[in-house]
Amino acid sequence: MQKANWNQYLSSTNPWTNRLIGLESFSRQRDLEQIEREYNQDKYGTLREFKFTDIESYKIKERELAGLGEKDNIFFSIGEELFEANCSFAFSIYHSLVSNVIKKYNPERICELGCGYGYNFSYLKNMCSEVYGGEYSENAVTIAHLLGLDIKKFNYYNLNEYSLIRDRSLVLTSHSIEQLPSAQCFIDGMYENRHKIDLIVNFEPSYLKQRQSLIGILRNRYVEINDYNRDLTYLLKSRNDIEILEFKPDAIGVNPLNSANILVWKFK
Ligand SMILES: C[S@@+](CC[C@H](N)C(=O)[O-])C[C@H]1O[C@@H](n2cnc3c(N)ncnc32)[C@H](O)[C@@H]1O
Repeated sequence: MQKANWNQYLSSTNPWTNRLIGLESFSRQRDLEQIEREYNQDKYGTLREFKFTDIESYKIKERELAGLGEKDNIFFSIGEELFEANCSFAFSIYHSLVSNVIKKYNPERICELGCGYGYNFSYLKNMCSEVYGGEYSENAVTIAHLLGLDIKKFNYYNLNEYSLIRDRSLVLTSHSIEQLPSAQCFIDGMYENRHKIDLIVNFEPSYLKQRQSLIGILRNRYVEINDYNRDLTYLLKSRNDIEILEFKPDAIGVNPLNSANILVWKFK
C-alpha cells in the first residue's frame, strides 16, 4: 500500500473526471428498473451462470467482471487521503473496518439488508453465529441458497418485508442504502421493527451538505449524477427519537468518489 494523490486518480483516463466536471453527460434514475438491470440481470444474472460452490470464487469473479484482478492496484480513500494497493488488500481494509465496528457491540444476530448473495457473510460469520439477510435480486438470492446462506427476497420499498428481521438483531447495511435516492423507506422499516432491533450499522455513501472541499464537492456530484442516496444522515439527524452512537463521514472509499460514511445508531 502506498500514498497516492488525486491528480493521479482523477486523470483523463478516469471516465468519471469528464462526467463530474460536465464535459461528458451522465445521469441515472435509480429506480427499481435500474436495480433490476444493473444488479439482478447484469451482475448477479451473469455470476449465477458460473455455478461455483464456494463464496470466494463468486467474490473473485464479481471483481473480475468489474475489470479488477486480485493483484491489480486500485485507489482507495480514507477521509480525503488517497492510497494505492492491490485490490484484495483494499477490500480487506474495508472488511476489517466493518468487522471492527460491529465487534464492539457483540451482536447476538446480524441481519444484512441489501446483502447481494452474501458477499460480507464470510467474515461476518467469524464474529456471530447467526448471520442472515434480505436482498432484492432474485438471482443473488438463488446464488445465496446454493451456497447455503440464509438470505430471503427483500425490497427496501416494501414496509411489510422488513418483518424478516428477527429479535435482538444488529441490522447492517453496506453500500445498499446508497441505491435508494431517499432513505425514508429504510428508516420507516427500522422504526416499524424497532422492538426487534438492538442496533443499526450503516456503511453507506450519501450526499453530505457539510462537504465544502473540491473532493467533497466532486463526491456530492457523484451521488447526484448516479442518483445515489441524498438524505440518510440528514434524516437520522433530524429525528429526536434516534440516538447516533458513531458518525464517521467518508471513513473509507474502495471507490474514492463513493466513500462510505459509518453510522451506528438506535431508537431511544
Ligand atoms: C453495491 S451492492 C452491495 C452488496 C453488499 N451489501 C456488499 O456490501 O457487497 C448493492 C446491493 O443493494 C441491492 N438493492 C438495491 N436496491 C434494493 C432494494 N430496493 N431492496 C433490497 N436490495 C436492494 C442490490 O441488488 C445489491 O445487491
